[in-house]
Amino acid sequence: MEIRKATIHDVDEMQPLIQQYADQGLMLPRSAKSLYEHIQCFTVAVKDGKVVGTVGLHILWKDLAEVRSLAVDPGYQGQGIGRKLVERAIWEAEQLGVEQVLSLTYQADFFRKLNFHIVDRDSLPHKVWKDCVYCKKFDRCDEIAMVYYTQSFKSVHDPVASIL
Ligand SMILES: CC(C)(COP(=O)(O)OP(=O)(O)OC[C@H]1O[C@@H](n2cnc3c(N)ncnc32)[C@H](O)[C@@H]1OP(=O)(O)O)[C@@H](O)C(=O)NCCC(=O)NCCS
Repeated sequence: MEIRKATIHDVDEMQPLIQQYADQGLMLPRSAKSLYEHIQCFTVAVKDGKVVGTVGLHILWKDLAEVRSLAVDPGYQGQGIGRKLVERAIWEAEQLGVEQVLSLTYQADFFRKLNFHIVDRDSLPHKVWKDCVYCKKFDRCDEIAMVYYTQSFKSVHDPVASIL
């Protein structure tokens, strides 16, 4: 299995992978146009010659990025692919100096395993909710807000702990 940055040639496979979960209300839909426009944000998992997983890392502000469109093909779940995709997104966030990686999710137990922590939704900046107008659950959102604190966060807020 290969984890690599997405290319424009992956979009035809990424779009239906995301759409099946958008249809279930698990994530926002992504048009092909949106994927092309934001392709640099995306990483894919490739196995058996096909795209079996996607994740997007979107920078929201100087200290905050968001994991979006995390999707693993149903036939390939439970093999560590979701974990590897999120770890790659976290690595990218670290490289960019971002302090916190956010996920708005229904998969709290999955993200807890990856050291994300539940935070108060009201503590998040308004720009986090910008795309919610595209969501079916706009007026009754029940997603859980979870944050991963990167090494950049630890070195700023707890410099002693970060070198221990
Ligand atoms: C959530 C999702 C990305 C997980 O991908 P995956 O490749 O099956 O997960 P992994 O195999 O990497 O699992 C990593 C760990 O999390 C656990 N895990 C996976 N899905 C879980 C879930 N829904 N609830 C609790 N634990 C879960 C695994 O057992 C594994 O634990 P381990 O390391 O102790 O063995 C995948 O199920 C998916 O695409 N779901 C539908 C779309 C979705 O909800 N995306 C999230 C939007 S924020």
